[in-house]
Amino acid sequence: MSGILQYISDCDCTITKGFIFIAFAIGVFKLTTTTLSFASIIFDSYILPGVNFSKYGANKGNWAVITGASDGIGKEYAFQLAKKGFNIVLVSRTESKLETVATEIQTKYKKQTKIVAFDATTDAPENYVALSKALEGLPVTILINNVGQSHSIPVSFLDTTDEEMMSIITLNNIVTLKVTKVVARLIVSNVGKSKNIRGLILTMGSFAGLIPSPLLGVYSGSKAFLQNWSGALAGELKPEGVDVELVISYLVTSAMSKIKRTSFSIPNPKQFVSSTLKNIGRRVGAQERYATITPYPSHALMHWGIETFIGVYSKTVNKINLDMHLSIRKRALKKAARLEAEKKQS
Ligand SMILES: NC(=O)c1ccc[n+]([C@@H]2O[C@H](COP(=O)([O-])OP(=O)(O)OC[C@H]3O[C@@H](n4cnc5c(N)ncnc54)[C@H](OP(=O)(O)O)[C@@H]3O)[C@@H](O)[C@H]2O)c1
Repeated sequence: MSGILQYISDCDCTITKGFIFIAFAIGVFKLTTTTLSFASIIFDSYILPGVNFSKYGANKGNWAVITGASDGIGKEYAFQLAKKGFNIVLVSRTESKLETVATEIQTKYKKQTKIVAFDATTDAPENYVALSKALEGLPVTILINNVGQSHSIPVSFLDTTDEEMMSIITLNNIVTLKVTKVVARLIVSNVGKSKNIRGLILTMGSFAGLIPSPLLGVYSGSKAFLQNWSGALAGELKPEGVDVELVISYLVTSAMSKIKRTSFSIPNPKQFVSSTLKNIGRRVGAQERYATITPYPSHALMHWGIETFIGVYSKTVNKINLDMHLSIRKRALKKAARLEAEKKQS
C-alpha cells in the first residue's frame, strides 16, 4: 500500500494521479465494507445474545399461528415458540399429526393449542373461514408462514406436470397470501404503541428463491415471489408495529429435502429454528437485504460469499446449480428404478 501511495505522489500527470487515487479509494471502500459485513455475520452468529421475545408479548397469553406445523421446520417453530411463552395455533393437512404435536406442547410447555386441518392445495374458501373462526377473539401477535412444497424430484420446466406446477404455486404463494390477509389483520389489531408490544410475521424463503435454480424452476420462482412480497409488506406494516421478515434457508433435514443426516451445511429443524428465532431483526447472511434473514451460520456464509464474490444471478452460479440438480435427478431416477425392480421381485 505504501508503494502505491509513493507512486501517486511521485507521478507528474494530474489526470493519471486522479484516476489512481479514485481507484485506490474505491478499493479501500470496498475492502472496508466487505470486512464489516463479514464481521457483522460473525457478530450476529456467535456474539450477540438472542432476541428477547417479550417485545412480541411472550408469557402474556398471546398466540402464534404456524402453517405446516405438523412436521419438519414448522413443528420445530411450534415447539420453540411454545417454549418461549406463546400459545400455538397449528395449521396443516393431517389432523392426527397436528393432534400429536398439540398434545406434546400442552404437556411439555403447558401452553394452550388449537388445531386447524385442511389440504391447502385446494385453496377452498372454507379453509380460510375455518382459520378465521379458530382465531376469533385470540390475541395473536405472531404468524409463521412456513407451509411450502417443492418439486418431487428436479425436473425441467417443460416436463413439470400442470398438477405439480399448480400445487406449488397455490401452496407457496396463493395460500401464503390469503392466510396472511386473515392473520395479519388480527395481529395489527392486537399490537402497536398503545399496547406496548410488536407483531411478527416470518415467511420461509429458500436459497432456490435467492438463486435462479434450473430443474426447480417453479419452486425457485415461487420463493423469489415471496422475497419481494414479504419485503413490500415489511415496509407497509412497520408503522403498524409489525416486524415482517423473509427467512432464507439452504438445505435442512426434513421430509421435503429427503435428507436425513446433518452436516456442516445441513442442520436439523431444531438447529435451524433456534438460529432463526435467536436472530430476528438481524440480517446475518442477508447483509444487503432489508427485512430478510439468512440465520443459520453456514448458510449465512454461503449466502454472503455468493452475493459478495460471484453474484446470485451470475452464469457461473446458474451452471453450478444446473449441474447439482442434474446429478440429484439422476440419483433419484436410479433409486426409483431400483425400488420398482424390488417391488416387482417381491
Ligand atoms: N427442508 C429444506 O431443506 C428447506 C430448505 C429451504 C426452505 N425450506 C422451506 O421450509 C418450509 C418447511 O419445509 P420442511 O422441509 O419443514 O417441509 P416438511 O418437513 O415436508 O413439512 C411440510 C409441512 O407442511 C404441511 N403441508 C404440506 N402440504 C400441505 C398441504 N397441501 N396442505 C396443508 N399442509 C401441508 C405438512 O403437513 P403434513 O404433515 O400433513 O404432510 C407439514 O406440516 C417450506 O416452505 C420449504 O419451502 C425448506
